[in-house]
Amino acid sequence: MDTTQIIQQGEDYLLPVYNRQKIVLMRGEGAHVYDSERAVYLDFFSGIAVNALGQAYPEVVNAIIEEAKKLGHISNVYYNEPNVKLAKLLCDISFAQKVFFCNSGTEAVEAALKLARKHFRREGQDKFEIISFYHSFHGRTYGSITATGQVKYQEGLEPLLPGIHYATFNNIESVRGLINDKTAAVLIEPIQCEGGIQPADPKFMKELRGLTREKGIILILDEVQTGIGRTGKMWAYEHYGIEPDMMASAKALGGGLPMGALLVTNQVSHGFKPGDHASTFGGNPIVSAAAIANIETIIGKDLLVHAAQHGVYLRQKLQAVQAEFPQLFTEVRGIGLVLGMEMTRKAASMVSECAKQGLLVGSAHENVLRFTPPLIITEADVDKAIEKLRKAAAEELQNK
Ligand SMILES: Cc1ncc(COP(=O)(O)O)c(C=O)c1O
Repeated sequence: MDTTQIIQQGEDYLLPVYNRQKIVLMRGEGAHVYDSERAVYLDFFSGIAVNALGQAYPEVVNAIIEEAKKLGHISNVYYNEPNVKLAKLLCDISFAQKVFFCNSGTEAVEAALKLARKHFRREGQDKFEIISFYHSFHGRTYGSITATGQVKYQEGLEPLLPGIHYATFNNIESVRGLINDKTAAVLIEPIQCEGGIQPADPKFMKELRGLTREKGIILILDEVQTGIGRTGKMWAYEHYGIEPDMMASAKALGGGLPMGALLVTNQVSHGFKPGDHASTFGGNPIVSAAAIANIETIIGKDLLVHAAQHGVYLRQKLQAVQAEFPQLFTEVRGIGLVLGMEMTRKAASMVSECAKQGLLVGSAHENVLRFTPPLIITEADVDKAIEKLRKAAAEELQNK
């Protein structure tokens, strides 16, 4: 099929829930991807913060092939070795003592909401309310989308899940005002990514941890986008000197394959008993093998330090572009390799201009240009990306 035929067939047969670029990606290697017209792109989007090691990373590819030759899929009524190894690995590199595996970020959040309610009900307490935050994003299933504090994602889907209330991000009094004797959990992203790359304030996070401990409320972190090294640490909570009771992970977790996980402490784990929750594919051997290869590579190749250093480098370069184009950009924000440039206008056309220049980036909260490159990028990649960004910005200025 040629490019036009592929796009046409997509329009004919796919439900139109995405605003897609008219680009057909065919293959990739590291931080580069190639389209059906043989154009090459520097990928500073990574499939929305998924491809921590870029495309076709040999260790991950080999892990997938070797496991696929042995065992494709089994049910969770049996054990599989890669999955139990991965569960231990995740506990070794985090606060957690137990893991539940699923297939996506929204499922990981959903599991957290259910476990929080079950935990208190098992203890004989009628606590079921959840506090989340305005401008948050937690996924598209009903619990997660209700917890998502943005009306635009919820319109037309009502009635939503009862018992979820929204506090103001970075405002501890707003959280305190919503707490009552029915409050089970507070759910928060350390960086509101879809909400425009807004990092939580360190003082606020410490106060939130203190407040939730004092009131016996479960603190759930949504690290679906910020986890697995994206911020230059394995988990973003490490920047804040706190630990949650539960944490949702997904995106980069599976080394490019679909995987989600809920990580929890022993204490809250007792809320779930056999039959309370499940997933047919969760923790599948092939995905688990890919996830182990992905995480072991990130650790073994010191990519956390690499990501932190390149995050600083990219940020400085983005700030220079901001200074050069003040008509377009007002601020650079983020931590490590999840960075956003706030724009004076909607970011969608700038995203297209960047693609025309051979640079894949994303947008967030309509007016923020989002950069989530693979953790393996080099300074030379950043320099090239910045050159493309500058050209795109010059073109974008002609658009209005
Ligand atoms: C913070 C956060 N939570 C949850 C989700 C939902 O993840 P998924 O699309 O894998 O369901 C996302 C997706 O962007 C996210 O950024």
